[in-house]
Amino acid sequence: MTDSSAVVVRRSKIQGRGVYAARNLAEGERIIEYTGKLITSAQADAVGDDEQMRRHHTFLFAVDDKWVVDATDEGSEARYINHSCDPNCESVIVRRRVYIHALRPIAEGEELVYDYWYITDGDYTLADLQRIYPCRCKSPICRGTLARPPPQRSRRVGRDKATVMRAR
Ligand SMILES: C[S@@+](CC[C@H](N)C(=O)[O-])C[C@H]1O[C@@H](n2cnc3c(N)ncnc32)[C@H](O)[C@@H]1O
Ligand SMILES: [Zn+2]
Repeated sequence: MTDSSAVVVRRSKIQGRGVYAARNLAEGERIIEYTGKLITSAQADAVGDDEQMRRHHTFLFAVDDKWVVDATDEGSEARYINHSCDPNCESVIVRRRVYIHALRPIAEGEELVYDYWYITDGDYTLADLQRIYPCRCKSPICRGTLARPPPQRSRRVGRDKATVMRAR
């Protein structure tokens, strides 16, 4: 069970709309479920080619290699939760359902953020990822991108598929 009165959606300094704590939240609390339509990864790839978007934006969340929750048309307020490289929340997947939990106590009025950790199929450098998926979280430890940084410096090849959020 999640309590929909725990959050409120309003404009964010990070990007567009964001989700804020409507009351004090406890460390470890299950705050809200990220709901939407369960689609296959192949269907998610058809939703959008990241490089074709003027500004990357999706409401897709991968629950495993095969399935993705698509919150584009119908979804809870959780779809408006922004990314931060220094998050106060995390996503937890249980039987293909996605829940957002508090990583620490969160005071009423704080914006909820988790680390999207986009996993890309292309062989991208960090500079590529910072250009395609730029981060504006303004945290002192911002890595500059919503994506998982590449494990090592590498040459870029191929075309990317739709990038979706994943639990870290
Ligand atoms: C699930 S939406 C989050 C809600 C979004 N702010 C909105 O109003 O629709 C995900 C998109 O929000 C934007 N976004 C989220 N966190 C961001 C960040 N730290 N820096 C830049 N853009 C961000 C990106 O465009 C990302 O694809
Ligand atoms: Zn950042």
